[in-house]
Amino acid sequence: MKEAIVHPDTTVTIQEVPIPIPARKQILIKVVAFGTNPKDWKIPAWQNLSMNSGDDVAGYVEAVGEDVIEFQKGDRAATMPLTFLTAAFALFYDLELPTLLDKQPNGRRTAFIIYGASTAVGAFAIKLASAAHIHPIIAIGSRNSDFVKEYLQESEGDAFLDYTTYESHGLLSSALRAILSASNVPEGRSFHALDAVSIPGTYDNVLSRAMAGPPQQVTGQRPRIAVTFPVQDRTMVDKSVDIVEPRVNRAHSDDLSYMSFGTAWCAMLEQGLRGGWIKPHPHRVILGGLEGLGGALQELKMGKVKAKKLIGRIEGTPGITNRGARRLN
Ligand SMILES: NC(=O)c1ccc[n+]([C@@H]2O[C@H](COP(=O)([O-])OP(=O)(O)OC[C@H]3O[C@@H](n4cnc5c(N)ncnc54)[C@H](OP(=O)(O)O)[C@@H]3O)[C@@H](O)[C@H]2O)c1
Repeated sequence: MKEAIVHPDTTVTIQEVPIPIPARKQILIKVVAFGTNPKDWKIPAWQNLSMNSGDDVAGYVEAVGEDVIEFQKGDRAATMPLTFLTAAFALFYDLELPTLLDKQPNGRRTAFIIYGASTAVGAFAIKLASAAHIHPIIAIGSRNSDFVKEYLQESEGDAFLDYTTYESHGLLSSALRAILSASNVPEGRSFHALDAVSIPGTYDNVLSRAMAGPPQQVTGQRPRIAVTFPVQDRTMVDKSVDIVEPRVNRAHSDDLSYMSFGTAWCAMLEQGLRGGWIKPHPHRVILGGLEGLGGALQELKMGKVKAKKLIGRIEGTPGITNRGARRLN
């Protein structure tokens, strides 16, 4: 089979490797389509290692290892809807926001800020917050984020800020504060934010500045920002604000709490897609299958991919015969 190795400089080599044999509690998936994520170029660059960094795939179960329940050969399978699960971990694990499963006490309002409405993680966070009746949602995006506006309800105080129209982080932060203080939430403040961009300037100059202050009077909750990429420099983050780092790969861990969270939220995703309260992120199919991966990761690295998930089809890879392959719709 073919394997894509991503190098620290974001070039990609395709190599032939033996088909793995699934070990105990593992399944082997015949990949039909793969997704790309910014972490696929960031981790090899960051760790200065060449690696197969891909883990966002969909296909069919080809073989199952010992002690596998639920799956059998021929089942449709996705390794992990990566960005959806990242958003779910951020909202409902690290930020401890009320979930769809919680009974919503009448009149409870929780302001929630999402920086990066165009990103797949940010957009899923908005969809999840809306489904969980968390309001007001304050989304920060650009005109590329128009597709999330259907999830925002003006009548609930939800708001959208276009970051490209503010001349400085300070002005954007002040606009956030103004919206919060005019909104009908306790103390006119937000104690929960997700930064799906997580670069210097976003979590500190915008979010931390807007959220800084004493803990919430009733709950004692300190302002908390979930960052989707580890932040190295916290010097500009106000001392009153906590930073938490949700990691989607927890779902693969042996920790029962993380594992159960991953299992439950994958089931919720399936239910959401069927029920229409979760819609997939907009996507663009890259040409050349695995051969197109290097170009796709370069595009991501250069920030040229706007509000779209780039996905590839294995059958588009030169040298791959599609005999016996099936299409996933
Ligand atoms: N923690 C985890 O386990 C985990 C898992 C998956 C991903 N991640 C991380 O989560 C982040 C988002 O991933 P993704 O796949 O959702 O991203 P994505 O869909 O590739 O994000 C693309 C969008 O990023 C936005 N963007 C870039 N720079 C921005 C800035 N300075 N201000 C506002 N928006 C900006 C752009 O929005 P506009 O078009 O509006 O300009 C662009 O449309 C990445 O850092 C990724 O590495 C973490």
